Amino acid sequence: MNRLTLAGLLGSTALAQQVFLPAQGPTDRPQCEASQAPEPTYSFTPFSYTLTTTQRTATSVTPSAATTYACPPEVLATLIPSQSYTTWGKWDPNATETASDTDNPYGNAAWTALWEYANPPNFTETGVYSTTVEPTPIPSEELVLPPRDYFGPNDCYNFPEGFEFGVSSSASQVEGATAEEGKSPSLMDILVQDDRAKSYVTNENYYLYKQDIERVAAMGVKYFSFSIAWTRILPFALPETPVNQEGIDHYNDLIDFIVSKGMVPEVTLLHFDTPLQFYGDNLTEAQRAPEIGYVNGAYQNETFPDAFVNYAKIVMTHYADRVATWFTFNEPLLYCDNGQSVYNVIKAHSQVYHFYKEELNGQGKISMKFNNNFGVPRDPTSQADVEAADHFNSFQLGPFCNPIYLGIDYPESYKSTIQDYVPLTAEDLEYMNGTADFLGIDPYTATVIAPPEAGNAQSIMDCAANASSTYRPYCVNQTTTEVNGWNIGYRSQTYVYITPTYLRSYLNYLWNTWRHPVVLTEFGFPVFGEDDKEVTDQLFDTPRSLYYLSFMSEVLNAIWEDGVHVSGAFAWSYMDNWEFGDYTAHFGIQTVNRTSQERRYKKSFFDLVDFMKARGVE
Ligand SMILES: *[C@@H]1O[C@H](CO)[C@@H](O)[C@H](O)[C@H]1NC(C)=O
Ligand SMILES: *[C@@H]1O[C@H](CO)[C@@H](O)[C@H](O)[C@H]1NC(C)=O
Ligand SMILES: *[C@@H]1O[C@H](CO)[C@@H](O)[C@H](O)[C@H]1NC(C)=O
Ligand SMILES: *[C@@H]1O[C@H](CO)[C@@H](O)[C@H](O)[C@H]1NC(C)=O
Ligand SMILES: *[C@@H]1O[C@H](CO)[C@@H](O)[C@H](O)[C@H]1NC(C)=O
Ligand SMILES: *[C@@H]1O[C@H](CO)[C@@H](O)[C@H](O)[C@H]1NC(C)=O
Ligand SMILES: *[C@@H]1O[C@H](CO)[C@@H](O)[C@H](O)[C@H]1NC(C)=O
Ligand SMILES: *[C@@H]1O[C@H](CO)[C@@H](O)[C@H](O)[C@H]1NC(C)=O
Repeated sequence: MNRLTLAGLLGSTALAQQVFLPAQGPTDRPQCEASQAPEPTYSFTPFSYTLTTTQRTATSVTPSAATTYACPPEVLATLIPSQSYTTWGKWDPNATETASDTDNPYGNAAWTALWEYANPPNFTETGVYSTTVEPTPIPSEELVLPPRDYFGPNDCYNFPEGFEFGVSSSASQVEGATAEEGKSPSLMDILVQDDRAKSYVTNENYYLYKQDIERVAAMGVKYFSFSIAWTRILPFALPETPVNQEGIDHYNDLIDFIVSKGMVPEVTLLHFDTPLQFYGDNLTEAQRAPEIGYVNGAYQNETFPDAFVNYAKIVMTHYADRVATWFTFNEPLLYCDNGQSVYNVIKAHSQVYHFYKEELNGQGKISMKFNNNFGVPRDPTSQADVEAADHFNSFQLGPFCNPIYLGIDYPESYKSTIQDYVPLTAEDLEYMNGTADFLGIDPYTATVIAPPEAGNAQSIMDCAANASSTYRPYCVNQTTTEVNGWNIGYRSQTYVYITPTYLRSYLNYLWNTWRHPVVLTEFGFPVFGEDDKEVTDQLFDTPRSLYYLSFMSEVLNAIWEDGVHVSGAFAWSYMDNWEFGDYTAHFGIQTVNRTSQERRYKKSFFDLVDFMKARGVE
């Protein structure tokens, strides 16, 4: 991306947004001038209890005929080499008997060896369930709307027709049953080596998925986004290894149940849970700090792209008739090790896109879910701060979005920092250009950006050229306070702050830079200290309602006032879940009792749904 063009774009969007106006005195109320009576009039009347409450209940999704997005699985199966299907069962580290099929490279002994080699720390399966639970209807008392917050949106905009409103989740964060029904270990099973919470049980959604979907359907939410665990489909990860029949059956049932409720399934193929095979004979590599992201997701492994494409083809040929939207990778930057990782991701993604559109003839959509907490210049009047914010945002999105949406090279911010980046040939760019139908973004919050040395734009480039700089890889000073000394917004349990006006600015940035419709593929707010509260207080989660309603109000402003095409929004998540070693960061719009696995609706779930439905969302 050309710096001048981008600065120009930012300049024009900044006009409506991030400007600090020096001002004095209280806030003007221009709307009130006509209604100012000079003095109140006092009077007596007989007192009565006039306050009344309206009792309304949520309306469930209206069942409708399922849409078909591709030929049936029997037909699609002919597009890929014939696969062998088998089953393995459950890993029990205490088992006294050992499998005897040691001469079968993919037998029970080999499968057990995968778990023994992974050696997940403190492995216990203390879940409540061991088989799929049949759903029960949600009692109407659970669906009564809570009291409204006093302050709230008063706008008159509606969402455009076809706007996709849904909820999202990922396999490792909700499924549990991690060593059951043939699943092999993934990065998520060994990610947490210290005494923090592990991924083994989480929400037991693997067995409770029907009830979980039933609860979302009863609230009237139509779009349901989840991820498939690669290691449930292909325990040995690589092409020409057997497919796990139980994994295939599970996701078939899950997708069918979503469709039977009148809902629409959206699938992510890889949400951080890389099969361990790609770490070869050194699993401690999975703990090593990568050059680019937070975790070494092993995408750089030379066998990774072909194996990913093979996995994607197997999944798509089974489910593409019913799945409306596919995401190849979740937040790829965060699990990229180096320049090769980035290249492998965009190459594998575009191969999957071409397969889906041209060979499978899929009529659904494909994209990725990108991360980047929008970097805003600490002082919008400082050119150095604007350049730092531009560097930060383009570094995180440009390596993927430039080739995929525009057919152009990686941004300078990335090339100047990551010396071993894999150059893109003209052929690469032609092949990758246009391989996503929309831009999926997880815009949780905004963050404040300045150069490493205050006011010195050159310090950004000095860092980019300095392999040992502590500011790498973004080469900026990232903080949470604005130039006026205040936090950027109301703070959550984690890095998320409530920053709705910056969301509007961000949507302008994304749409005007990469020129594709934007979908909020995840956004959510872990209320500060929620885990310490009584359940009744967790349920009355006003700060989360404030987050969701203000974010969605600004989405409407972006659509109607700025001409930005936003085509969907997915709340993360439909229940509290495993936040990579932590259960105290409650990102959910339902609570989960970690002993009984009971779920309960939070107020924000009702408020968000009511906001959306009142504004025309199906
Ligand atoms: C294995 O046995 C130990 C000791 O009895 C027990 O604490 C642990 O939960 C068992 N592990 C599994 C996975 O059942
Ligand atoms: C394993 O469990 C024990 C007992 O709960 C705990 O003290 C220890 O920290 C755990 N270790 C790891 C690596 O999780
Ligand atoms: C890459 O993955 C393959 C499995 O496909 C593995 O055999 C190899 O050791 C891995 N390479 C490295 C460097 O870990
Ligand atoms: C395994 O990887 C770790 C982390 O990168 C490294 O420190 C260690 O030397 C490696 N071990 C072997 C045997 O290569
Ligand atoms: C990328 O594809 C679009 C749509 O086909 C086209 O307009 C654009 O020129 C292409 N970009 C490049 C750099 O060729
Ligand atoms: C590179 O960064 C390191 C760590 O911040 C610093 O000590 C060193 O002086 C820098 N080198 C150059 C050439 O700026
Ligand atoms: C980063 O910016 C903040 C806010 O201006 C400042 O307080 C802090 O000192 C800066 N950090 C460094 C290491 O310069
Ligand atoms: C969670 O469930 C357990 C088991 O049913 C129950 O004893 C406990 O009271 C529940 N906790 C809360 C906070 O409701």
